[in-house]
Amino acid sequence: MRVVISIGGVYFADVARIKQIAAVLDELAEYRAGTYRLYVVTGGGAMARRYINMARELGANEVLCDYIGIALTRVNARLLISALQNAYPEPFSDYAAVRAKLPELESGMSKIAVMGGVTPGYTTDAVSAILAEYINADLLLNVTSVDGVYDADPRKYPDAKKYNRITSRELVRLTTRDELKAGSRIVIDPVAAKIIERSGIRTIVLDGSNPRNIIDVIIHGRHHGTEII
Ligand code: UTP
Repeated sequence: MRVVISIGGVYFADVARIKQIAAVLDELAEYRAGTYRLYVVTGGGAMARRYINMARELGANEVLCDYIGIALTRVNARLLISALQNAYPEPFSDYAAVRAKLPELESGMSKIAVMGGVTPGYTTDAVSAILAEYINADLLLNVTSVDGVYDADPRKYPDAKKYNRITSRELVRLTTRDELKAGSRIVIDPVAAKIIERSGIRTIVLDGSNPRNIIDVIIHGRHHGTEII
């Protein structure tokens, strides 16, 4: 089973958290001699936002800000690789390179492929959705700091409603209400929502504050997040 996992940048803020995530990913990669083939996309987090804001203050346009964000996501990819036992040693920087390496990544013991951002104009949510579509993944997991998709930002609106399930069409409608700026804070970016809609890939948004949630959903199919149908 091929699984693409997008890990929000929030989880790269400290060594302990990176170790926890890496341990879970290694456990999955080693589970029953390669049952799960893992493709992990790393977000930029607070560091990306900090550098993007600095660049903006210095007069950078949004594309330049995006490139700065991409650079930080790639730093996080390297941090994760440092902590993993079963990682392919270099982060990937484009989709085609991952696809070309599939036979090597999936022969015998699993090697976890890790990549950060790719192109200005979207976030690593979209990267993970595009990668999932390109390599025909069976499941896309979006591991984030909220526990699912809400009809408004639950950090700003305490009465926001959580969806246990949502259609990809409705997700597209929700996400296109928000503005798309470098470093913007929406649960799933609109490009990702469109890709999820067209590819029909099974997608689950889940809270990563307990990284064991990743194991629960992949091995046991249990989760408290949002399933996009
Ligand atoms: P993230 O994927 O971390 O964006 O990429 P995010 O959703 O704002 O952050 P989290 O998930 O809440 O932590 C950081 C920034 O890098 C640029 C964008 O500016 C994005 O906001 N980026 C990333 C790109 O332009 N292209 C990419 O492929 C990836």
